Amino acid sequence: MTEFDLDVHRDPDGIAEALVVDVRSGLTAAQKWLPPKWFYDARGSELFEEITALPEYYPTRAEREVLDARAGEIARVTGARTLVELGSGSSEKTRLLLDGLSGHGTLRGFVPLDVSETALAEAVAAIRADYPGLDVRGVVGDFTEHLGLLPGESPRLVVFLGGTIGNFLPAERAKFLRSVRDVLAEGEWLLLGTDLVKDPVVLERAYDDAAGVTAEFDRNVLHVINTTLGADFDPAKFTHESYWDAANEWIEMRLRAQEDMTVHVPGANLVVRFEEGEHIRTEISAKFRPAGVAAELAEAGFRLERWWTDSAARFGVSLARAGSGGA
Ligand code: SAH
Ligand code: AVI
Repeated sequence: MTEFDLDVHRDPDGIAEALVVDVRSGLTAAQKWLPPKWFYDARGSELFEEITALPEYYPTRAEREVLDARAGEIARVTGARTLVELGSGSSEKTRLLLDGLSGHGTLRGFVPLDVSETALAEAVAAIRADYPGLDVRGVVGDFTEHLGLLPGESPRLVVFLGGTIGNFLPAERAKFLRSVRDVLAEGEWLLLGTDLVKDPVVLERAYDDAAGVTAEFDRNVLHVINTTLGADFDPAKFTHESYWDAANEWIEMRLRAQEDMTVHVPGANLVVRFEEGEHIRTEISAKFRPAGVAAELAEAGFRLERWWTDSAARFGVSLARAGSGGA
């Protein structure tokens, strides 16, 4: 697979520039933070795939259960000709939808979009091999910036799986849902996966597994800053934590400095001081309630047509239709 098989909206210079902006704003804030999209270089994407198979990390299995049960119905209801997947990663679960839509006879094209070029290239190669008649166009891009460039015949079904919508802050989430609505024509479709509020012990374990894979995934953001911006973070000096914020109903992943440190980030022309015990917030993963999902979809201009959960009600999947204009 060569880079020419993918539509690339982010070159290495653009990636470094965007990382500089985020590192400068996140690591100079009173409460340090980093956006979660920077986890996903080649190693980060591999670690995420390992996470999906961990005993503690239930969301992938729960969402797969729903897609397995409902792919035929999704195909019949939407009659989609193009499946667009945002934050597609390995697109493993998406195969259930590709099978459903191919079986229904409507599907012509698949457009996976991801910031992780390696994950996308592998997924595109594997899906092209397994679905020979399908027009597969991988797009390397940022789903907060590049939605206007998505190709494909109507009706399109945009899927956003895994609960990745929970990695936005609430205001970013509203903006994102509105931007998806704006690129769709009235009557086109959104399939949205949302992890649900549950026992905090189950949630905290899902984000701090016994084998330490999530901890390595969390620290990977520091490796990415070292590699891309020549920084001298010592990732081993940061302890991974998962914390349930009950007021906001989200999990926070944090990297806590084990000692006082001075970190140089030459590519961002920045020196960052850490006090022992201080943490960087590296991700939020919001958990939802059914009424909240319905309200946010309506606010963004979608009509909720179907709502399903897995048998243990851990994870919700919404099928929504782009409504007419203003919400
Ligand atoms: N949808 C898959 C993968 C979820 S992991 C699943 O359900 O298992 C989140 C994916 O979103 C990763 O592949 C990551 O590279 C991608 N991602 C994160 N932030 C992104 C952004 N801003 N734009 C595009 N892709 C992004
Ligand atoms: C991609 N996203 C939905 C994952 C989540 O559960 O929030 C990322 C992740 N972080 C730690 N484990 C998995």
